[in-house]
Amino acid sequence: MKQNSQLRVELARKLFDYIPHSGGQMEWMLDENKRKCLATGRQFGKSQSAGIDLATYALLKPGSRQCIVAPKYDQGLIIFDYVLRTIKSCKVPLGVKMTVSRTAPAEMWFGPKGTSSQITTMSADQVGDGAKQRGWQFDRIIVDEAAFCVGPIIHKVFVPMLARVDGVLMLQSTPNGENWFWGECQKTWKESGITHHHSSYDNPYLPRSFLDEQKRLLGETSLAWRQEYMAEFVASASAYFHIPHVERAMEHGRVLPQVVQSGHKYVAGVDFAEISDWTVVCVVDVTKSVWEVVALDRFHRVQDQKWDWTEQIKRVASCLEYWNAEALVDSTQMGSPLRDMLSKLWPKTYGFNMAHYRQGHILCEGLQLKFDRNELLLPSEGCEEGRLMLDEFRSFQVKQSVQGYAPHLGAAKGHHDDIVFALGLACKMGEGSADVYNQDEKTYTLSDSVALMRSRQYNLDENSQETPFFIGKNW
Ligand SMILES: Nc1ncnc2c1ncn2[C@@H]1O[C@H](COP(=O)(O)OP(=O)(O)OP(=O)(O)O)[C@@H](O)[C@H]1O
Ligand SMILES: [Mg+2]
Repeated sequence: MKQNSQLRVELARKLFDYIPHSGGQMEWMLDENKRKCLATGRQFGKSQSAGIDLATYALLKPGSRQCIVAPKYDQGLIIFDYVLRTIKSCKVPLGVKMTVSRTAPAEMWFGPKGTSSQITTMSADQVGDGAKQRGWQFDRIIVDEAAFCVGPIIHKVFVPMLARVDGVLMLQSTPNGENWFWGECQKTWKESGITHHHSSYDNPYLPRSFLDEQKRLLGETSLAWRQEYMAEFVASASAYFHIPHVERAMEHGRVLPQVVQSGHKYVAGVDFAEISDWTVVCVVDVTKSVWEVVALDRFHRVQDQKWDWTEQIKRVASCLEYWNAEALVDSTQMGSPLRDMLSKLWPKTYGFNMAHYRQGHILCEGLQLKFDRNELLLPSEGCEEGRLMLDEFRSFQVKQSVQGYAPHLGAAKGHHDDIVFALGLACKMGEGSADVYNQDEKTYTLSDSVALMRSRQYNLDENSQETPFFIGKNW
């Protein structure tokens, strides 16, 4: 007996003159596994083949329910429109009166609404309606450009929609680094023994001249060429943290801030802002063997005040007091007098000097190890704190310097790293290895610090380029 996928491929040829190409498309369309992933270069034919596959499934299985998911709603409409075009291109009268609604979530019915086959389009947009969708049930879900969707949204919001009929989940995308989609590909390819992984050259309908021109323009070794057309999962060479493990630490769905629990032990890390960055207090619950970030206070200026250290320190102290947390404070250069001021309001503080590369490295190594061992939970991507953290971890780099200087650890251009360092300090505090504490050089006074910043030609009042922004709360 023929498999359903074979019938669909035959129907596609007979009704729509469509034959999946032999560069991996046929193999993909015939794969009957309930979880399958396709990673390809641009213009491989992912969206069009998805449109054909959805249309033939809807025709062969009356009353079926299918859903197209994409990072943004408009992207989902591309496949939705491929389905409509496919139906219109039919060589023989199909005898079905399509009902189509393009208002979100777009729907098409292959006959009377409610009883006939249905195809719906939703976004996996975490701030839009996508992440709020609940209560739907589908036989099949296809996620286009899956690598650009937030993994936990697919798993927590969309996968449960397949539960009733133990339905099919198809993820397809151009790669986007070694993120959750990469993890899903590795898993499903191993389980099924079929590696749906193809470069754009595998689409025989795509002119070679176009690809060769792109290669020349982008450069054969460029990230853009390797990722977009060769479909390589490029782990950034300079990336410090292994992002799949950071993402794993966010998969529990908890958001911030949490509340103090009696009998729990909390520690904190404090990284004071210089000019263009943020003051961050990160509080970690270290009661159990798996530690958990429970609060993150991140602010640039305190309300409308200008560069007023006193107000900042008060805010930090009240947070530490609320959590009754011992804190390790970055006391490098200007951090040293700030730590002194802080310790007058909240004495349980220790200084950590990061003037040397090795010291920063100790913090980051400790964090990396915690992620690798799955011993640290971060707020989920469902809240602002989680999203900020993920961005910092993704853009955190080790940059090799020339002329034998120590490498530089920190954020890529345009990103911040204050949360990473504050969390690293908190974890170091949690380890309680007192040998590294209170090692401030104490060579700076507050006025030294201000002078130091001036000497770097910072204009203190230019802080206003970033509007005051808070996450966390007044404790
Ligand atoms: N089996 C096929 N028969 C005819 N043309 C095909 C076939 N497969 C792909 N193509 C053509 O390849 C081109 C790319 O298809 P499509 O837009 O589906 O690719 P994609 O992988 O979704 O691209 P992108 O990554 O840019 O979203 C289209 O012009 C499409 O018509
Ligand atoms: Mg596409």
